[in-house]
Amino acid sequence: MTVHVLFVCLGNICRSPMAEAVFQKLVDEAGLSDQIEVDSAGTGSWHVGEKAHPGTQRILEQHGIPYDGRARQVRYSDLTSPNTYIIAMDQDNINDLRHRFGDHPRLFRLLDFAGRNGGRDIPDPYYTGDFKTVYQLVEEGCRGLLAAIRAREKL
Ligand code: 4NP
Repeated sequence: MTVHVLFVCLGNICRSPMAEAVFQKLVDEAGLSDQIEVDSAGTGSWHVGEKAHPGTQRILEQHGIPYDGRARQVRYSDLTSPNTYIIAMDQDNINDLRHRFGDHPRLFRLLDFAGRNGGRDIPDPYYTGDFKTVYQLVEEGCRGLLAAIRAREKL
């Protein structure tokens, strides 16, 4: 059965699109594109329909990673579809999702899967402007996440 991975942040223009693009590249490189489906969404609706933030576009370009997704808001069906991992960027995202939709058996923060920088929030570059640090954290989290999913799903 296909595994779905949905990255979630507040606006779906900075962190979660970056995570979606980086994770998709790792999935492609591992030859798992037919088995793992990747998407992203925001808890908020302010930026629905917009392209990724210029800071996210720039850092992805610098790493040769394509991305042309548009922002959308999380919907209930995202959480009810089977075999889905919901990967939030920070604790506020987790709290918002739980408040709106109740708990979910596979709701995590991305850095729950990171080694050195494990178990904390990804800072919001919409406010900090530091897309480089966010990229490094996102990449570390995505590598750990893919390893965890491969182990759990036997892929
Ligand atoms: P993101 O960053 O959650 O990483 O996409 C933000 C984007 C927009 C806003 C906040 C955070 N905003 O308040 O509009």
